[in-house]
Formats: sequence, structure tokens, C-alpha cells
Amino acid sequence: MSRIVIGNWKLHGSMAMLEEYFSLLSAAGVSGGNVWLGLPVPYISAARGFAEKLGVCIGAQDASRYSEGAYTGEISADMLRDVGAQFVIVGHSERRRVFGDVDDIVCEKYHRAILAGLIPVLCVGETLAERDAGYEYEVVGRQLMAAINYFSSEEGGFNAPCIIAYEPVWAIGTGRTALLEDVEAMHSFILDRLPGAKVLYGGSVKPDSVRSLFQIDSVAGVLVGGASLSASSFASICGMA
Ligand code: G3P
Repeated sequence: MSRIVIGNWKLHGSMAMLEEYFSLLSAAGVSGGNVWLGLPVPYISAARGFAEKLGVCIGAQDASRYSEGAYTGEISADMLRDVGAQFVIVGHSERRRVFGDVDDIVCEKYHRAILAGLIPVLCVGETLAERDAGYEYEVVGRQLMAAINYFSSEEGGFNAPCIIAYEPVWAIGTGRTALLEDVEAMHSFILDRLPGAKVLYGGSVKPDSVRSLFQIDSVAGVLVGGASLSASSFASICGMA
């Protein structure tokens, strides 16, 4: 089963880093369509040539909820598609927490991505307070149902297979990976509601934690943050996919 590995650089990187990064990936033998690299928007067109050589898809970390208009600073899904993006992350917990992306906005972004021909990756996940209070399934269920209900009214059904990334917020950037049994339980919860989905895990994925994650059948891949900034770490994660 070919897995999906997405490297989310977040607000990091530079043009100088780009060429070296891809040559290190190439030297490490990274290739094939099951490796997806999500780059900050300014570099997508620059990365396109390198990515095509490796057979790696490139994408973006967010897209506007709007298609066009007087929305200073926004970048539309169509613009991302124009510069070679093939997928886009929507609803990342940092967009939700820092930039106010509530469920309705996330659904609109997801919709725009589909209309532009991009593959959306919908992020869901609970905070530590929500998990400690025992609300993790209510939170993830609410995030999922917002999208399912949105598309049920608009599109006659949620487009599946879709890609969902379960990222427990308390595992992001903390070095704490969720317990395997918790990952397996939440992925099953998501698949019960979206049987056709591919469910990725994200949250402190490192080369030494990814092998055990890939032992879980319902883990279709991983969404990697910090470790994706190191070409060698990202290459070793891809090598285990
Ligand atoms: O989108 C992936 C990211 O949120 C996970 O970050 O640094 O915990 O791998 P990190």
C-alpha cells in the first residue's frame, strides 16, 4: 500500500534552501507519487521543477475561502493551481487557533480547493484541554460533520476518497506523539464516518516514531512538520512509507 507523506514546512525555508533540499532528497532516493511536499506559497513555482524531477507532488498550506476580489493578502485555490500546486492543507490547527479559521471557513476553503481541482487535506484534532476533559471525539466529530453536512447540502455528498489529517493539537511541535492506541481509535472513528477517506496522522512525527505508526492499517500516511525541514529526516520518513 503506497502511503502519503506530506512535509509541512510552515513559515520556514528559503530559495537557497530549496535546491539543496531537493538534491538531498534525490541523493537519498526519494521519489514516487506517494510523497507529497507542502511548501509555502512563494516557493511553489520555484519548487515545481525540482519536484517534477523527483515525481513528488507539491502543495500549499492554506488557500483563500474566496475565489477572487478585493481581499488583500489572500491567495486563491485557482492561483495555487496555476503555479503547480496539486493539493492544499485546510483547517490546520494553527490556522484555526491563530487566524480564526472556524469550521464554516474551513469548509469554504475545502470547497474552493475542490472547485480549483486541488486535492484538499482536511486537518482535524483536539486540544489537550479537550482531551483531558474527554471531549476529543466530540471535537473531531464536530469538525468532520461540519464538512460532511456542508457538502451534503451543497454537493450531494462529501467527496470521497478524501484525505483527513488527524493532528492532536497537543502533539504538534511538542515532541509528544499520541499513543498508538489513541491514534488507532481516532482513525477508526474517522473512517466510520468517512469510509473512503485516507487518514493521515500528524503531531511530532519523527523517523524514530514513524515505523510504529505505519504498523497501524488505518494510518494511510503522515503529515510531518518540524522533521520535514531536515531533508535527511524527511527522506528517512519517506523511506519507511
Ligand atoms: O502539519 C503538521 C504539523 O502540524 C506537525 O508538526 O512539528 O509536530 O511534526 P510537528
